[in-house]
Amino acid sequence: MFKLDRKSLVSISIITAVLVGFTAQADTTSATSKTYTSGPNKGKLVIDGGVTYPVKNNKTSSYYVNSDAQKGGYSYGRTPTPTELEAWSRSVTPKTPPPEGHGTVSDGSELYDSKCAMCHGDFGSGGSGYPSLAKGNAYDGVKSLKNQRTSDTADGPNRVFGTYWPQASTLWWYIKEGMPHPAPKSLTDDQVYALVAYILNINEMKIDGEVVGDSYDLDRAKFLKIVMPNKDGFVPKIDGPKGLDNTRAFFNNPKNIGAKTSKARCMNNCIKGETKVTRIKIETKDFLPPLSIVRDLPVKDKNANSGNAAKATYDATCSMCHGADGMGAPVVGNKAAWEKVTSKGMDAVYHNAINGINGMPPKGGTDLADTDLKAVVDYMISLSK
Ligand code: HEC
Ligand code: HEC
Repeated sequence: MFKLDRKSLVSISIITAVLVGFTAQADTTSATSKTYTSGPNKGKLVIDGGVTYPVKNNKTSSYYVNSDAQKGGYSYGRTPTPTELEAWSRSVTPKTPPPEGHGTVSDGSELYDSKCAMCHGDFGSGGSGYPSLAKGNAYDGVKSLKNQRTSDTADGPNRVFGTYWPQASTLWWYIKEGMPHPAPKSLTDDQVYALVAYILNINEMKIDGEVVGDSYDLDRAKFLKIVMPNKDGFVPKIDGPKGLDNTRAFFNNPKNIGAKTSKARCMNNCIKGETKVTRIKIETKDFLPPLSIVRDLPVKDKNANSGNAAKATYDATCSMCHGADGMGAPVVGNKAAWEKVTSKGMDAVYHNAINGINGMPPKGGTDLADTDLKAVVDYMISLSK
């Protein structure tokens, strides 16, 4: 047994965070268009349901100009419209079942290969910083949660959807609202069902005793029968009709979240001594080799501009889209493709790499400084001559 830890909360808060990242789909009062009307993206679709607002003389901005502020009203922003609130506000509990719809494992498998595998790996294996979505049979895997990694050959706990998550509704809504990462909210309900079916399949799960095999057609009624193997593995008990109340009661006692007394809430230096929000109870000294308790960040590579750093960034990040055909990105090593890219002049290429264009996320999703990012672009081009 372990406490409801940050991970489960994070899963839920990510959905909110993802949602906060973009504005409402259709703000009937002030959104004028779903395409950019000026700037480098002119004529292209505004991503992620974002909106542009009119300013003056056909100019637009992604920020709403608040004329109330000039009248001495609000000093920031404006009251969100009901549509915006609706688009941001998602509270996902087992009582928030998905809408009607259906999809098969085999459709999900195809969708997965085209939209998810580049980050989450073949069959949900995960990799290079992206979470695994499956690690073999969920019913066996759940036993791994009690693993204590007390020797260098012992396996730690396997925490993936099938082995760890207490509720399946989180998966459905997570995918619907937050995935695929570069284009959240782009999947239809049926596509989400298909992907969920596929993820159940790679976790080797059953519904109502039936194996979720390749031709399994998952619909809402079947979805509601999913029993997650680890549903009772949390303290407080978060499953069942009292789940939400239990959770509230637990987190309403500040002592359970690191405060010293049950009265005082705490915002800094809260955790002195041992906190009650432990994950799996294990001492750092039990690990071999011992876990470091030093809190310094690793020293930054001083040669951030050097070829090595560029190569490392390319391998870790850019290669997942630029490494092979099929992602719509110019493939590194393909001379003709890169000649076409560079023919518009390097200024434009750097600009696009920094600001993003079509399927290319700004800076490839990194937070590199412009000069370092340019070095990665140069590295990619040097491999494509
Ligand atoms: C560009 C990379 C990328 C793509 C493509 C992508 N994801 Fe993700 N996914 C992520 C990242 C990053 C996270 C972790 C987010 C976090 O923890 O903040 C994640 C998390 C998840 C999780 C939660 C896993 C966990 O255990 O916490 C699920 C489920 C998921 N993605 C499903 C999908 C599905 C289904 C698709 C395809 C429709 C997809 N993802 C496409 C990057 C991606
Ligand atoms: C999620 C997938 C993805 C990732 C990750 C990614 N790219 Fe791209 N990139 C694309 C796509 C798709 C295009 C093609 C866009 C177009 O032509 O409209 C592209 C195009 C480019 C271009 C050409 C721009 C132009 O002017 O035609 C450069 C340069 C580039 N990427 C650099 C990078 C670098 C550097 C990284 C890593 C830091 C990176 N990309 C990571 C998808 C990606």
